[in-house]
Amino acid sequence: MAIDKVVSADAPIGDKVLGWVDARFPATKLWNEHLAEYYAPKNFNFWYFFGSLALFVLVIQIVTGIILVMHYKPDANDAFASVEYIMRDVPWGWLVRYMHSTGASAFFIVVYLHMFRGLLYGSYRKPRELVWLFGVGIFLCLMGEAFFGYLLPWGQMSYWGAQVIVNLFSAIPFIGPDLSLWIRGDYVVSDATLNRFFSFHVIAIPLVLLGLVAAHIVALHEVGSNNPDGVEIKKYKDEHGVPLDGIPFHPYYTVHDLFGVSVFLLAFCSIIFFAPEMGGYFLEANNFLPADSLKTPLHIAPVWYFTPFYSMLRATTDQFTWAMVAGVLIGFVIWFLRVRPRLVFSVPVFVVACVVAILLRTWDAKFWGVVVMGGSVMILFGMPWLDRSPARSIRYRPEWHKLLYLVFVVVFVILGYIGTQPPSPFLNIVSQIGTVFYFSFFLGMPIWSQLGHFKPVPDRIVFHGH
Ligand code: HEM
Repeated sequence: MAIDKVVSADAPIGDKVLGWVDARFPATKLWNEHLAEYYAPKNFNFWYFFGSLALFVLVIQIVTGIILVMHYKPDANDAFASVEYIMRDVPWGWLVRYMHSTGASAFFIVVYLHMFRGLLYGSYRKPRELVWLFGVGIFLCLMGEAFFGYLLPWGQMSYWGAQVIVNLFSAIPFIGPDLSLWIRGDYVVSDATLNRFFSFHVIAIPLVLLGLVAAHIVALHEVGSNNPDGVEIKKYKDEHGVPLDGIPFHPYYTVHDLFGVSVFLLAFCSIIFFAPEMGGYFLEANNFLPADSLKTPLHIAPVWYFTPFYSMLRATTDQFTWAMVAGVLIGFVIWFLRVRPRLVFSVPVFVVACVVAILLRTWDAKFWGVVVMGGSVMILFGMPWLDRSPARSIRYRPEWHKLLYLVFVVVFVILGYIGTQPPSPFLNIVSQIGTVFYFSFFLGMPIWSQLGHFKPVPDRIVFHGH
């Protein structure tokens, strides 16, 4: 509800204080702009819980993180023992630690669902491109945050996971070995590495993350939320300039989101109290052993939220680079058939395509694996321009688009599963097919998103309240 500035002499003390603050800081103005008079579409559904949940998990991570830092020691000799000390001796330390470790996985579950909502309803499309771009920036930060944080308990998986990932950089031609040495600060992962990862985990990345989250929400509130129908509610307003299909965020969606938070807490607490390791998916068994630079674990796998991308890295074998050469050439032919004026553009692009094809076969496949893995995340930045569908929301798209999104999810989950398993020839082929599908889905989007029979998009939201 909107708060009016009332500062008459006999006003209640609360109003007087608020009036005093408002004369110096836009408290009421911010409250109104972002909550009481922020008109959100009236048809938000299940998928719209995850933005506020992501905010909630962010707060959990920051608060529990601050408490953990009070007892944790970022020193290769003490780190593992300090985590054990938190778990056994610090009052409620086990709870804080499990909240933080479960929070990491919960963050990714919530953010993956939040991003998928964006795909379903075309929330990244004009005018919300920046909301999406900030979102992908947040996703990159989250990945960095999780990666740096995972080294801190200084268990076997922390140590060897970091070793494997930092070593990947050494595959970059020319600068690789120096770069990975520079990242580690040593020839192997060591105390120097732990100290810098700690610094990134507790301050550098959280600062950027918070800045990006603020930008994300400011950008969203500038243009207004999308909704499951994918229509703009700002097109039809009443005489006060209020969208006809909008309702004030507060109290309607604050209450709605509190319900989401309650259900989330039920699941979150059940995991913390009954299955904090989640069968090795949230906390891996090997990480309960202290890091040992002389004992490489038989099977090194990242935590589940990285495994779809890790699968694509492993799928990029020397043979697979032939498929990539074919992909580059097919891509060029499709582009050539569609571009105008053909001759002016096609010669330089053809040269670039040939150079890339040659490099694909001359540079180490490990390097191309890194490119594929990085590209699989970076491609998300392109979404606002890749999707050319005449309808924003999946609701008004051809049925087979829905099927394609379903296959995309299944492929992503299969890739994720494969990434947790030791490599085998069969799984490798499956992950290669999955990788080709993943990239074709995005790179082919400018073409396939326009195909098929679209349903007429309504002018206004079709939902009627109960
Ligand atoms: C810390 C992580 C994040 C937080 C706290 C966050 C927060 C929010 C909030 C509060 C909203 C408004 C409520 C809602 O629409 O659900 C929102 C909307 C949105 N977010 Fe995020 N977000 C995060 C990550 C991401 C990521 C990783 C992406 C995409 C790559 C993304 C893309 C979007 C889009 C496109 C919208 C507009 C949705 C619409 O209007 O339909 N967000 N976000």
